Amino acid sequence: MKNIIILTGSGISAESGLKTFRSEDGLWLNHRVEDVCTVEAFEKNPVYVNSFYNELRPIMMQASPNMGHQSITTLQEKLPDININVVTQNVDLLHEKAGNKNIYHIHGRIDECVCTNCGHVIKTLGDVESDEICPQCQVSGMLKPNIVFFGEMPKYMNEVDKMLLNCDMFIAIGTSGIVYPAAGFVRMAKYAGAKTYLFNLDPCNNSNMFDQEILGKASQTFPKFAEHLIAELSK
Ligand code: APR
Repeated sequence: MKNIIILTGSGISAESGLKTFRSEDGLWLNHRVEDVCTVEAFEKNPVYVNSFYNELRPIMMQASPNMGHQSITTLQEKLPDININVVTQNVDLLHEKAGNKNIYHIHGRIDECVCTNCGHVIKTLGDVESDEICPQCQVSGMLKPNIVFFGEMPKYMNEVDKMLLNCDMFIAIGTSGIVYPAAGFVRMAKYAGAKTYLFNLDPCNNSNMFDQEILGKASQTFPKFAEHLIAELSK
């Protein structure tokens, strides 16, 4: 066993008090994706799109990691000879707060904004305003949250592709398997010969691709699995 990929979705952060996207009280039930998470929406109404993320930012920044995030750190610390990469669709920073290493935010991060004129990325802990001036190109009104919208390419795809080709174990935690390309990673990992595990509250859209599906709260199910894996691989 050399390479493990852990793919996470909003379900891993649910027990830290953050809303998932498609559950009963999910983010996409109160907001249409088309209004707040597409390139077209941002072009049409940047004030509205920015205000959505300005509301979300402090909530995400104040959240604390749970045992799901923390047991990834334990895995990485106890299995130093194995490459354990964390590929997350989440824009919160709970993997960082839990001390995880090798984190790839393929859908961006809530604490950054990007200038759509010059590509400059800026750390942003406060609100992003639509008339702000980019410190690099001095053009105003072009800053958007550094979050991948529908219609944009996810980040780190080359790196993730390479990881998937060499993957021995693929673990998905808290994701519905609806949004591509992340939903297709399990298939690529399987082609590479990886063992595949899903830790989710409910069966997901691509459950049939997983060798094992462990249903329940990730903060309870994943730490147990991590403990067993450490024992198994430390023999
Ligand atoms: N433990 C484990 N799984 C959980 C928990 C929990 N405590 N709570 C919820 N889940 C599971 C749900 O069963 C569901 O399958 O997490 C999943 C969340 O699914 P979605 O709401 O679809 O979120 P996600 O898969 O992260 O969405 C992917 O969609 O709109 C986009 O860009 C957004 O990154 C996001 C992407």
